[in-house]
Amino acid sequence: MTTEAVFQRCIHPHCGATLGVDETAFACPRCGGLLDVAYDWARLTPPKSLRDFEAKWSQRTDPLSFSGVWRFRELLPFASPEQILTIGEGQTILQQADIVAGYVGVQPGKLFLQYEGQNPSGSFKDNGMTAAFTHARMVGARRAACASTGNTSASLAVFCSATGLMRAIIFIGSGKISYGKLAQALDHGALTVQIAGDFDDAMQRVQQVSRRLGIYLVNSINPFRLEGQKTVMYRVLEALRWEAPDWIVVPGGNLGNVSAFGKAFIELAELGLLKRLPRLAVINAAGADTFFKLFGQANLRWEGGKPAKQTIEEYYRHLDAEKIRASTIASAIEINRPVNLPKALRALDRCGGVVREASDQDILDAKAKVGAGGLGCEPASAASVAGARKLRQEGIIAPNDRVVCILTGHALKDPTATVAYHTTDQKTFEEVLGTRGVRRATYANRAVQVPNDLDEIIKAIEVYS
Ligand code: F0G
Repeated sequence: MTTEAVFQRCIHPHCGATLGVDETAFACPRCGGLLDVAYDWARLTPPKSLRDFEAKWSQRTDPLSFSGVWRFRELLPFASPEQILTIGEGQTILQQADIVAGYVGVQPGKLFLQYEGQNPSGSFKDNGMTAAFTHARMVGARRAACASTGNTSASLAVFCSATGLMRAIIFIGSGKISYGKLAQALDHGALTVQIAGDFDDAMQRVQQVSRRLGIYLVNSINPFRLEGQKTVMYRVLEALRWEAPDWIVVPGGNLGNVSAFGKAFIELAELGLLKRLPRLAVINAAGADTFFKLFGQANLRWEGGKPAKQTIEEYYRHLDAEKIRASTIASAIEINRPVNLPKALRALDRCGGVVREASDQDILDAKAKVGAGGLGCEPASAASVAGARKLRQEGIIAPNDRVVCILTGHALKDPTATVAYHTTDQKTFEEVLGTRGVRRATYANRAVQVPNDLDEIIKAIEVYS
């Protein structure tokens, strides 16, 4: 039993095993469950009001007050200021998107896109990476590893190259990550291990290898990663003048985000800093829908920390027996064995959560709408908008609800899917999207082919504009 104010704790209350903050177990030594970073708030100095954070705005020349993660450090106080490693992550914005609101079916002024593509490596992962990286340095790590569908690896590679403090070792499924993300891993000098398998295989291997070689693991199974990701919610609240929206809608892959968001809200409620919590909606891709199947169909719940293990095991046995592999154009969330499943159940339990799935067709149509009426995103991110639309159609989201969709990654992460959607070349469309069951590019913005002739060019502009 630890006597520190900050420690790690098994998420299952009936176990409740604790570890020091300087340990790197990444699983409960007693029951094998997931770990939380836990705080004895009575012995720390949390803010009295969320408005206290506004004082940081005038201190932007201090890197820790500038960082969109560490300016909230009183709510993730596991490191001292000298230990923190920041590369300027979290400078992201909440964009009111009325065109997308029309698509989703809510009133103008009610839909917001939290644009995490603005991070240094182009995805929300930097929020978590700065926290994991800080912890890695606290425990003296020299090498850090992850399995990835591309964004975690890009983020790790950027943190390693920008700080020069660690060697990045990344495991990816061969042919399973988009070119934008592969380009980042290579360009930033990560040791890139391409495994003949998918993300679920890579995730298993990286855990074995990290254990064997004593390499620091930065996947979201690492509880320090999730501490950083809590801050996405603090920024959403900040942008909404500290008032919770009705809904937070987020794509679900390894379920790190939803777990982190849930923890953020649970802690804010515990500290009396937020009276009303938003509801959480997680959107799986239909081709990678373990969470939807287990929560939505098999009725798996948190059950006070004792979710039915048997239901989960049976489902995974069924995947194995039927040789079912995750498959979606939203490659970032092409995951069938989400490591944070129990934490995600806890988050949904506390925040009145729901889970839905969206087809690749709906994801790409939503992505085109986001591009045409927002800051743009990669396919996985658009699952949030497709899911919000579905929940609105079902009447679960009301027309006057305030809805925040998290855009997890930048539009340039996956140009192949975007170009294939808008292409005039049927063969490209079929090769990239037809094989995924996408039948039409409902909102395609096709390039206009014209001869190199001034009159023809002018004619085309007059016709099409
Ligand atoms: N959106 C994007 C763009 C992602 O890259 C990911 C996860 C998710 C959503 C899902 O988030 O895992 O917290 O539920 N990408 C991981 C990776 C798995 O390796 O980059 P989650």
